[in-house]
Amino acid sequence: MPQAPFLPGTTDRRLAALLTLLSENATIVISGARIAREVGMSRSTVWRWVQELRKLGVHVKGQRSTGYFLEKVPDVLTPDLLRKRLKGNVWGRRVFHFFKTDSTNRLAMELGYAGEPEGTIVMAEAQTEGRGRSGRSWHSEKGTGLYFTVLLRPKLAPAQAPLLTMLAGVSAYTAIASQTGLVPELKWPNDLLLNGKKLGGILTEMHAEPNVVRFVIVGVGINVNQDKFPPELSAIATSIHKETGRTSYRLELLVRLLTQFENDYNRFLREGPAFVIDRFDSVSSFARGRRVRVDTGVETYIGTTAGLSPEGLLLVNRDSGPLTTVIAGDVTEVR
Ligand code: BTN
Repeated sequence: MPQAPFLPGTTDRRLAALLTLLSENATIVISGARIAREVGMSRSTVWRWVQELRKLGVHVKGQRSTGYFLEKVPDVLTPDLLRKRLKGNVWGRRVFHFFKTDSTNRLAMELGYAGEPEGTIVMAEAQTEGRGRSGRSWHSEKGTGLYFTVLLRPKLAPAQAPLLTMLAGVSAYTAIASQTGLVPELKWPNDLLLNGKKLGGILTEMHAEPNVVRFVIVGVGINVNQDKFPPELSAIATSIHKETGRTSYRLELLVRLLTQFENDYNRFLREGPAFVIDRFDSVSSFARGRRVRVDTGVETYIGTTAGLSPEGLLLVNRDSGPLTTVIAGDVTEVR
């Protein structure tokens, strides 16, 4: 495999290896000498990196003379752990991890242009400029949510790329439901909701020629362990933790989600758009019979959702007017 391009801010490979070693041996004291040998660094560097991990909020116990250990497995998404868990999958052979970055979508775009292969994953513990749909931002507090982007190179026409947003939504829905028992609502085209509040969202961006997609990046944000949100979001956002009172292991959810998404993606490529549209229609309680307001930026109207078009666009029976296909716009429920 070609050398991965260097991206400023990528988690140092040795720091990630140290964290993985400590995580895999949690509660067991490992001597500085063994760490130095296994990770490939000097004992004094081990000590420096331990300080670094502590600064990043990982509770490393112990000292230079005795060795180091973790009291419990930290919920850090180390690339090595993810790669091991995704063994056998094509996705995840290349993983770029950041403790903090501006946006995993922006980085994935850069990697797309640099020729990185399909299934490359960019993930971050925190984002400073997380992007949402329609130019909004995505609140990405450190270590609590899942913030990641998958780079794909499907042989699709550009008009079919939005189906990947819907597909990622279905895969996320399935993974969340199977791990937590919660049943989120999937709202066309990219929202995951619980009790009417936002639990997650998907932002797909692409680089395409007029007739062919060069690459697509699918960015996924899920609110997992947040116990509070900034005041401006608290009425409209929720998390798995807020809904269940339980803390989830983010790595587990990420592995489920990526495995599900990769399988669903391959079925989409084999079976065509109908696979995505049928799956979406069957799990989205929003797709039919919901009273909604549609704001297209040009006009606003009220109606009732009436399923999806063969292209995956939402159909709305307008209260005053014809059955309308929503090509783009904000769809909100009217209660
Ligand atoms: C939305 O519902 O508005 C879409 C939100 C998408 C957020 C994710 S977080 C990971 C990835 N990187 C970004 O900058 N945005 C997406």
